[in-house]
Amino acid sequence: MEQSSPQRILVVDDEKGLRTTLRVLLSKEGYEVDTASGGLEALEKIKTTFYPVIVSDIRMPDLSGIELLKLVQEKSPRSIMILITAYASDGTASEGLKYGAYDYISKPFKNEEIKNVVKNALERQLLKEENLKLKQKLAESVEHYGIIGSSKPMKQLMDLVVRVSKTRTPILITGESGVGKEVIAKAIHLLQNPESPFVPLNCGGIPENLLESELFGYKKGAFTGAVTDKPGLFETADGGILFLDEIGELPLSLQVKLLRVLQDQIFRRLGDNRDIKVDVQIISATNRDINKEVLEKRFREDLFFRLNVINIHVPPLRERREDIPLLLEYFIKKYSKKYGRKEIKISSYILKELEKYDFPGNVRELENMVERAIALQDTNIILPGIYHSQTIDAIEQPILPFYTSDFPEEGVDLPALLEEIEKTYLSEALKRCQGKKVEAAHLVGMTFRSFRYKLEKYQMD
Ligand SMILES: Nc1ncnc2c1ncn2[C@@H]1O[C@H](COP(=O)(O)OP(=O)(O)OP(=O)(O)O)[C@@H](O)[C@H]1O
Ligand SMILES: [Mg+2]
Repeated sequence: MEQSSPQRILVVDDEKGLRTTLRVLLSKEGYEVDTASGGLEALEKIKTTFYPVIVSDIRMPDLSGIELLKLVQEKSPRSIMILITAYASDGTASEGLKYGAYDYISKPFKNEEIKNVVKNALERQLLKEENLKLKQKLAESVEHYGIIGSSKPMKQLMDLVVRVSKTRTPILITGESGVGKEVIAKAIHLLQNPESPFVPLNCGGIPENLLESELFGYKKGAFTGAVTDKPGLFETADGGILFLDEIGELPLSLQVKLLRVLQDQIFRRLGDNRDIKVDVQIISATNRDINKEVLEKRFREDLFFRLNVINIHVPPLRERREDIPLLLEYFIKKYSKKYGRKEIKISSYILKELEKYDFPGNVRELENMVERAIALQDTNIILPGIYHSQTIDAIEQPILPFYTSDFPEEGVDLPALLEEIEKTYLSEALKRCQGKKVEAAHLVGMTFRSFRYKLEKYQMD
């Protein structure tokens, strides 16, 4: 493996003086700086060492900076290149940008200028690496039967899911609303036998008498309206899983009946005297504090013990914030596809803000947030402030992408925010001018050249 250090920089210049200046300057910033006196020497160096950032002169006798750039992209594609030019006007620098250089600096340059460009390049590099890692992680976690997550609690939960899927014992899944209880139940089903039936029933959504006939079915003539025989969900789920969602809502009378089925896996259709035997695994779920329901006698204790042979508790999202970036990435993919949009990018600023947010509605809230952002917005970014539920409903009106009244206690990442604002306005300007760059540049008070340069920089072309 090549050696990897995010702070290592290679300076390439045939002029010894400039090499030394840059080495001293950048070393002072805390970077580890290597130098090469020409393109060929630089190529030798990148064979053995990984440089996240390479700063190179354009005019060199052995190999031009542009030629070096092309070779670097081939041999060290993760490196980012910054070019130094004495002749910004002759077009080679912008040619460099076209071939994928990150930026260029014209001689004579100010120390601040080069320090900033290198700093930004390194940040970009880190972000790129992080995205790459995220993609790999995502690819791994989709293997977990639809459960996204890489936090420690989620990994433990996935282990548990794999283990319990080997048994047919009743399972009770607990956790706040929107944490993914149904996702877990479905994963157990997939792991167990995807060909077998998975039958979900929401115990809260249906009136008591209907619920009973849904579960057990009925014989023709059992009650007015029972014009034919109808099998119940217990029969439909035979050989598979009956998922009883919101089990806490199950009326007491039905709790007794359910208990009986659980005891001997035998029941009768309404109005029938024939016993039916089934092999059904019951997975139930609740977001209520079921222990309290039992204590207050709203839920039968004997049934509770029967259902809760194995308990799976899904922790709220705020207790596993490491899952937020992965879930975001996953939902962005999902909804960009659904709405036929280009995949939006989340800036590090917004990601940080989202990672601080508590998500009372858990994963469902995060998912809805992403879906709205993608469905309602034309810009290809999520605007800051969108994570405030108050502003979500107002999103259809054009909003300014910043809120001074929202100045957080711990401060803001102003450069990232400014970048976000810049991107928003660039994209809006393009839209208003039907993609005509000259007009769009005029609209935002920029020269055509710098407008085009920014588009390239943000890969909005
Ligand atoms: N780990 C996860 N990976 C991928 N998607 C998830 C995950 N957790 C939740 N979701 C998504 O979030 C939404 C809510 O999940 P789900 O319906 O399973 O929650 P729940 O715990 O059953 O909520 P409720 O108590 O309100 O019924 C669903 O769209 C689901 O696909
Ligand atoms: Mg649910």
